[in-house]
Amino acid sequence: MTLTDTLTAAFGQSGRITFETNPLGGVVARLVTRCGTAVVALQGAQVLSWKPTPDAAGVLWLSPMARLGTGKPLRGGIPVCWPWFGPHPDAQTGKGAHGFVRAADWRVTESAVSASETRLTLSYALSPDDEAALGGQARLSLDFVLTDTLDISLTTANTGTAALTISEALHSYFTIGDIASVELTGLEGRHYLDQLSGATIEQRGSIAIRTETDRIYWDTPDTVVIHDRSLGRQIAISKRGSSSTVVWNPWRDKAQRLGDMDEDGYRRMVCVETANVGPRNLKIIEPGETHTLAVRIACIKVNAASTD
Ligand code: BG6
Repeated sequence: MTLTDTLTAAFGQSGRITFETNPLGGVVARLVTRCGTAVVALQGAQVLSWKPTPDAAGVLWLSPMARLGTGKPLRGGIPVCWPWFGPHPDAQTGKGAHGFVRAADWRVTESAVSASETRLTLSYALSPDDEAALGGQARLSLDFVLTDTLDISLTTANTGTAALTISEALHSYFTIGDIASVELTGLEGRHYLDQLSGATIEQRGSIAIRTETDRIYWDTPDTVVIHDRSLGRQIAISKRGSSSTVVWNPWRDKAQRLGDMDEDGYRRMVCVETANVGPRNLKIIEPGETHTLAVRIACIKVNAASTD
């Protein structure tokens, strides 16, 4: 039996959850509801695409250069950053940015469907090396619930005897028509760390992106809305268990340096990341406790003539 056959036998739900080998080179789960479809790779438990309705443009941006199975993180969709966000807090370890689960293999552990929702759970079992890097023991699971929204919950259970200190993000890449006609609201009056200058700045008004942007907004439980005039839609990102919001666009030069984005890719994506990021919003999880970081993504069609 192939892996997809085994997964289908254990977790397939007729017409609603199927497992297949994706043209990008790895095994994915396809989740279907009455109107929408989402594709989740077992590598990194990474959502690769979500279309709320058959005729809608995909909500998530995925680099055309993305390939599964190379052992490298995939640029686009929703990578999971855990148990650290950005560079490892101790540069001496030589460990990669954004933690060790984003390119690792996850296991399917549950699936369920009802008339209105399709649900899949993936889990990640930490190796002894992972536990050493984490400084403790944990059980990690990721729930995907597809209705007319896409809901994702990342749950960390501290199964050890020492408190865990983590940072984390659902590093969501959103498709936009053109960066020049996009505005982000919901973070007005909040403070952010500008990762490019190191300055802490107050956000005045909405956010327009006209250059490389890499910001960690602290203490932001707020819903952020991406107003996209050229695609005539809004993407609302609401969350739970998240105190930070990261806004990122590499712009032209950094995108070229990254080497895994197409030339104009930076014009068609923006990251709005549901996160807990240090030093202000680190998450401490005591032994026996669980913590859930959750996001709900909704895509709302607006009148194309709207001037919002
Ligand atoms: C963002 C960070 O979340 O991810 C940026 O704020 C970083 O600093 C970006 O450049 C991409 O990271 P990576 O490791 O996927 O290239």
